[in-house]
Amino acid sequence: MTAKMTDTRIDLATHLDGAALPQGLSELLALVASACVDIRKVVSGGALAGALGASGSVNVQDEEQKKLDVISNDILTDQLLASPLVAGVASEEMDNCQPAPHSGGKFLVLFDPLDGSSNIDINAPVGTIFSVLAAPEGDITDASFLQDGRKQLAAGYVLYGGQTMLVLTTGNGVAGFTLSLDGQWLLTHPDIKISADTKEFAINMSNQRHWAQGVQTYVAGCLQGVEGGRGKNFNMRWVAAMVADVHRIMMRGGVFLYPWDKREPNKPGKLRLMYEGNPMSFLVEQAGGKSTTDGRAAILDVTPTELHQRVPVILGSANEIDIIADTCGV
Ligand code: AHG
Ligand code: MN
Ligand code: MN
Ligand code: MN
Repeated sequence: MTAKMTDTRIDLATHLDGAALPQGLSELLALVASACVDIRKVVSGGALAGALGASGSVNVQDEEQKKLDVISNDILTDQLLASPLVAGVASEEMDNCQPAPHSGGKFLVLFDPLDGSSNIDINAPVGTIFSVLAAPEGDITDASFLQDGRKQLAAGYVLYGGQTMLVLTTGNGVAGFTLSLDGQWLLTHPDIKISADTKEFAINMSNQRHWAQGVQTYVAGCLQGVEGGRGKNFNMRWVAAMVADVHRIMMRGGVFLYPWDKREPNKPGKLRLMYEGNPMSFLVEQAGGKSTTDGRAAILDVTPTELHQRVPVILGSANEIDIIADTCGV
């Protein structure tokens, strides 16, 4: 008979205890992680939990909301606003921010409650993306959230995939935790680093005709591979959930592009700066990668002017992002 192995991995609270964080941040992150465990339960229940299909409403960006978008948003909003640590929340799925019903909260939390909505009904990976800012003095309004990405105190995502994983930064590297069967977040990936080089790119090729010429040229080079002078052949992946595409890049490198395209020149890109661009950029930079609007300009340097602002995204393995910058001629 084999002895039962004792798992000696440290949990989320212990990991955060060792870091010099602003007071209350560790508890706040535990709360976000706990709300995501509740979202995981609804995701896992699927049809049994009444979680599939459309909700019948659209969000402020004119996207059809799925039931799970709304359920996940409610879980995070209700649990966070009940905490004295929180001064307000803002989300992809709400027109405006929601200030907390109490005063004295130190943190603002922004989130994409369910990333990859089109994957829900096909039982493919989805996730939650979040960003934490310090709450300014005074009443909380949408303007309170319009802080530069470099001011984020923490950012992370939870991937509801084959395993449920939390990937987190507080500005001192990136750590990954796996949810155990008994509901603990255990440190399984203590220091995630994105490899500098890659042979893998991710882009929605169906938008090719709308891209700027530089992106067309870069992707054409990847498709040509060795014959086109890149010195290697490339593979392509597209999960249609940024959280899963970025997680793959965290684990084995790659580049992800949701670039500017000419359909909506004044609303560049599809992804949202405050709920997707900034938190993912903080994580990618902390893991040694680059996260840019065009190959060169860091997303974290974009000045936010609107809560639901969109941003072109080109991120991933540092050397490959430099090649994109050179190809795009910016
Ligand atoms: P969300 O489900 O939060 O609206 O985000 C979906 C985003 C992102 O996760 C993904 O990379 C992209 O949309 C997929 O877009 P396409 O449907 O154009 O492939
Ligand atoms: Mn959406
Ligand atoms: Mn999203
Ligand atoms: Mn979403």
